[in-house]
Amino acid sequence: MCGIVAAVTQRNIADFLIDSIKKLEYRGYDSSGLAVIDNKNNIIRIRCVGKVNELIKKTNKKKILGNIGVAHTRWATHGKVSKENTHPHISSNIIVVHNGIIENNSVLRLFLQKKGYIFSSDTDTEVIAHLLHWEQNKKKDSLKKVIQNSIKQLDGNYSMVVMDKNNPSKLIAARSGSPLIIGLGIEENFIASDQIALLHVTKRFIYLEEGDIAIVKKKEINIFNKDNFFIKRKEIISNTEYKSVKKGKYRHYMEKEIYEQPTSILNTLKNRLKNKNKVYFSELALEANDVFYNTENIQIVACGTSYNAAMVAKHWFESLANIPCDVEIASEFSSRKLTVRKKSLLITLSQSGETADTLLALRYSKKLGYLGNLTICNMESSSLVKESDFYILTKAGLEIGVASTKSFTTQLTVLLMLVAKIINLKKENNNISQKIVQTLNLLPMRIEKILKKNYIIKSVANILANKKNMLYLGRGNQYPIAMEGALKLKEIAYIHAEAYPSGELKHGPLALIDKNIPVIMIAPKNSLLEKNKKNIKEICSRGGLIYVFSDQEFDHEDNMNVIKLPYVEELIAPIFYIIPLQLLAYYIALKKGKEIDQPRHLAKSVTVE
Ligand code: F6R
Repeated sequence: MCGIVAAVTQRNIADFLIDSIKKLEYRGYDSSGLAVIDNKNNIIRIRCVGKVNELIKKTNKKKILGNIGVAHTRWATHGKVSKENTHPHISSNIIVVHNGIIENNSVLRLFLQKKGYIFSSDTDTEVIAHLLHWEQNKKKDSLKKVIQNSIKQLDGNYSMVVMDKNNPSKLIAARSGSPLIIGLGIEENFIASDQIALLHVTKRFIYLEEGDIAIVKKKEINIFNKDNFFIKRKEIISNTEYKSVKKGKYRHYMEKEIYEQPTSILNTLKNRLKNKNKVYFSELALEANDVFYNTENIQIVACGTSYNAAMVAKHWFESLANIPCDVEIASEFSSRKLTVRKKSLLITLSQSGETADTLLALRYSKKLGYLGNLTICNMESSSLVKESDFYILTKAGLEIGVASTKSFTTQLTVLLMLVAKIINLKKENNNISQKIVQTLNLLPMRIEKILKKNYIIKSVANILANKKNMLYLGRGNQYPIAMEGALKLKEIAYIHAEAYPSGELKHGPLALIDKNIPVIMIAPKNSLLEKNKKNIKEICSRGGLIYVFSDQEFDHEDNMNVIKLPYVEELIAPIFYIIPLQLLAYYIALKKGKEIDQPRHLAKSVTVE
């Protein structure tokens, strides 16, 4: 939520800021802005509503010469989308960009108004700017001390970068709630919410920890922890390739990420499947084996697409490993009093590892007596990985499209491997783990095959693009796939879509059926096929329009269309069947001319509650 970049450089800062902030647009794209202290010690601020391209156009028209600056792309929380509410916010000499929410901003605003401060926006960030200015003028302390005094008064999350016109040689970054990363250059240094923004200038990074404050100058970086002790944080060299951040031959990141899935799954599997039935995760601490061995129940918490992946895993844990598994939306999990089942392992599932709801659920779970906690995550440097007992990486690679695709299929791949690992540890049924390992090896090739059927899906998309509502149906472990398919359609094509377990149709939604609400049904060959066939008949006999995604033949019915898909093994069928639904949503959104990579009102990494 919201992207921050900042730097003290040798190079011209304005070009750097706009190049970098453009790369963080996935974190919010309501409005964007930048501020530079120029060579004559003036603050130059440019802000615009809309995408970063608007900021680029406006900035390119000005001649800005300076070496220190900050930029921000916003996902509105406090105050509507407007130029006044766009960051950076300024209080006289103090300039602030911020990511987070200040819960007690109304109280502080009143206090500062009484002190004579006049607000020009509705944001909580302007409260921070004025508070810093107030504190600075009270005692004439150093900027670091001023920030420390001020953040003691803030309730909520305040990851921010502060710049002071009266001391334009340094930036101060404070981390709370969402990530801030320092990029190390040669006699220049950078700050950003995500390394993606800095990969074109450096590969050397320092990740700030919660509560850290960093003083960043051209030739020097000093970091203090939450207790104000000077601390050395580890420098890491990123192995992310800058080119992987580009769209290449694709029109959208989402399209690229859909087609990348065979490769990302191969990467997820690589060096992890051993000796026919053994699964090995090098990043998993050895003690995890004891915890898994003793686990009698599993609780998974996640949000959005990750939640849908967890719902598939529930079926796998219960039907393959005989372990009862509950799944809960993270924000619900931490909003209620819970009873923890005996010998229960908590699993959090997240692409970003920064989702506030999931992080809060993890922190809440630590008070509840779980056997241990494990996160399955795509980002090794994320808060979830840092705060969990154990972690497994999904290795999807960078996912930039706001709608998750390859992170979903790699999460499922890891979850199925984990099922095999736990079966092995418990020495339950080696045949099953062997079957899982064998079948997972076939997965990339199966997905290649289905991607080649894209032309069929494109033709269905052309027919459905003008629909206003759609229903998605699936049974068993395909019901969560229906949920994920419907979520993709809502997110990027703005078509209202609801998912139901096929058997639930007759309990209400059947009343909606007519030829204007297409039904997408996932009905592969499995033990539930006959039941699904009955549901198809119920829909057709009521004049409904149905599209059945299956590897099977069906008796002809009026208004029934079968999308014949290649064969896939039942074990991996959920991972396979999401692919045509991702393509369907993508091609419908493409036909409708929607902003596929940056759907309205959304952001990729949801770091607010
Ligand atoms: C949907 C989507 C979101 C995320 C959700 C959780 O396409 O991307 O629903 O899945 O915000 O995000 P992570 O997995 O980063 O915790």
